[in-house]
Amino acid sequence: MFRKVGVVGAGLMGAEIALVSALSGRSVLLNDANRDLTEKALSRLNGLLEKGVDRGFYEAGVVEDVMPRIEVAEDLDSFADRDLVIEAVFEDEVVKGDIFSRLDHITSDHTVFASNTSSISITALASHVQESRRKKFLGTHFFSPVSRMKLVEVIPALDTDVDVLESMMNFCKDIGKTPIKVKDVVGFAVNRMLHAFMIEAMRLVEEGVATPEDIDLACRLGLGHAIGPFQLMDATQISLSVQVEEILHDAYGDRFKPRPLMKQMVQAGYNGKKVGRGWYKY
Ligand SMILES: NC(=O)c1ccc[n+]([C@@H]2O[C@H](COP(=O)([O-])OP(=O)(O)OC[C@H]3O[C@@H](n4cnc5c(N)ncnc54)[C@H](O)[C@@H]3O)[C@@H](O)[C@H]2O)c1
Repeated sequence: MFRKVGVVGAGLMGAEIALVSALSGRSVLLNDANRDLTEKALSRLNGLLEKGVDRGFYEAGVVEDVMPRIEVAEDLDSFADRDLVIEAVFEDEVVKGDIFSRLDHITSDHTVFASNTSSISITALASHVQESRRKKFLGTHFFSPVSRMKLVEVIPALDTDVDVLESMMNFCKDIGKTPIKVKDVVGFAVNRMLHAFMIEAMRLVEEGVATPEDIDLACRLGLGHAIGPFQLMDATQISLSVQVEEILHDAYGDRFKPRPLMKQMVQAGYNGKKVGRGWYKY
């Protein structure tokens, strides 16, 4: 199912969504508004393949042939023959909505649309396509780095057909992922759990109960987590966590109010690993 895949957005997420789709033997078209970024994405994917992806899952030969299966699409018109289009552009409803509404006129009736949004309502995004397409519209929330993280939250919108949902669950399994079905609520399931956890970790630091380093150690050695909450915030930029918590705060109230300490860190420019300083110094 979904033999011809299109991915819009060749950034951190889109590029690797293209990669895992191609690894499963599918033909992939990858489009980005910025052509240079597509070239950069392809060379990053080459690097990932050289380092070695999870070969256990993929058939020998399939891995070797993978890059020729990802073709750059200069514009969305080339997506006319796609069975599935996954959108992974900036987290902005206007930008995403415009792409879906254009694709709606370009692709055929059977094409399924999926968004990788982390925080925009899937039902709201589906309203950017014609009513007849809405049964084929859903969310696929992949996790970073997509080539390594197994989980995908699959989110039906209000009008998503059960067969389309089922096909998407099967597609995710077929590309080596483990899908879970999640209702279209703000933050879906994982980000709600994660940010409740991060906020409590920050309260511990604010109260002087333990240092960020020790809390990260506690999570790794006591809870078996692969990475502690402060290391994770540094890796993904603290400002992104503030943004997500503001969205969760709007939806669920005070339990998700971003902590003053993290806002201070961002204001001071200590935004994480990328700038050399966050909860840790790099
Ligand atoms: N980064 C994460 O950990 C993560 C995790 C889950 C979901 N997401 C979601 O995935 C989506 C993409 O995130 P990302 O981290 O890959 O962002 P990114 O900034 O790395 O990549 C976005 C890409 O979209 C391109 N783009 C923007 N407008 C476009 C347009 N009109 N047409 C074509 N391309 C366009 C940009 O040039 C850029 O290359 C967002 O919705 C984000 O919320 C991100």
